[in-house]
Amino acid sequence: KNRIDIDYNRIKIHRSERLKPLVPNKDLVFGHTFTDHMLNIEWHAETGWHDPIIKPYDKICLEPSAMVFHYSFECFEGLKAYKDKNGKIRLFRPEINMKRFQRSAARISLPSFNEKELFKCLKELIRLEERWIPAERGFSLYIRPTLIGTQESLGVGATTRSLLFIICSPVGPYYKTGFNAIKLLATTENVRAWPGGTGDVKVGGNYAPCVKPQIEAAAKGYQQNLWLFGEDDEITEVGTMNCFVLLKNEHDETELVTPPLDGSILAGVTRDCILHLARSWNEFKVSERKITMSEVKIAAGEGRLLEMFGSGTACIVSPIKGIHYRGLNIEVPLDPNNPSNQTGPITRRFADTLMGIQYGEIPHEWSVVL
Ligand code: COI
Repeated sequence: KNRIDIDYNRIKIHRSERLKPLVPNKDLVFGHTFTDHMLNIEWHAETGWHDPIIKPYDKICLEPSAMVFHYSFECFEGLKAYKDKNGKIRLFRPEINMKRFQRSAARISLPSFNEKELFKCLKELIRLEERWIPAERGFSLYIRPTLIGTQESLGVGATTRSLLFIICSPVGPYYKTGFNAIKLLATTENVRAWPGGTGDVKVGGNYAPCVKPQIEAAAKGYQQNLWLFGEDDEITEVGTMNCFVLLKNEHDETELVTPPLDGSILAGVTRDCILHLARSWNEFKVSERKITMSEVKIAAGEGRLLEMFGSGTACIVSPIKGIHYRGLNIEVPLDPNNPSNQTGPITRRFADTLMGIQYGEIPHEWSVVL
């Protein structure tokens, strides 16, 4: 069938006649404020992708029978636009998000699309929303591309209609008062992802089931869950982030470890950046390998555990100061030279380098001027 793909040249722009007042940077709460416009692109199985439309941010009107409401036909992306000190708009490795969006869609039988054309539409939206990109280091415009199945049907099967939309939300630094190291509850009752599941794609269905364990952890005084898998309690992810462990291994080498992309780990953009940076520094061993709680527990007991952190687009890095694991409290060091510091030196170096690149202070091909 000769279906039409997304075509940027056919984009239609309906500007909002009443622009909203901007929210002062200090009042921004992650994901609470939305800009004036959104991008919509509809898809029908018979015809393909309709013309992209940028229009005022508004409610989506769907029948209660729309498949997204019943069987979680939903996937999404998260990336940020930054304003550098010269006022230029920058994106950070956006092509990775476009590719992952495509992979997520394919995993839940949502339609494929030309990601280069989608990216052009995304850039058009960001240009239109320029005034919403905060011009202050640490602040950015969080971009949320989303794809849902909209066919009115309770039959379980591939959707014949979809809606791709993009909304934007100005956001501040994850930690307003600088870093705030978190305590984790190593979760043994629930699992986030499993081999052959959907843990390696960004589908909404991965997130809702993790909220109950998160609330339970919070009630016990832990900010996030450390997600484990398997009989040997291997570490997988932390909260909605990838997980990194810096330790002195049994051969007395300093090693940065993160679980491999074995099908149940999300291929985080920040995760990939940290691996690249660490390998380019060439100062310690960098491994994508399985790491179990028992390895971390023993390393901590022998004083070989150096640092631990989560990584993600929302927070960049999130330092970890402790783990409660099967009745045992494992302390994770922060800064050995300054106990009041909320982050270890290597964790901080990743954060500083990534921020420097994102805001165009450190020239790097990852940061693309719009
Ligand atoms: C992250 O950026 O770390 C995320 O996982 C995004 C989150 C808001 C779903």
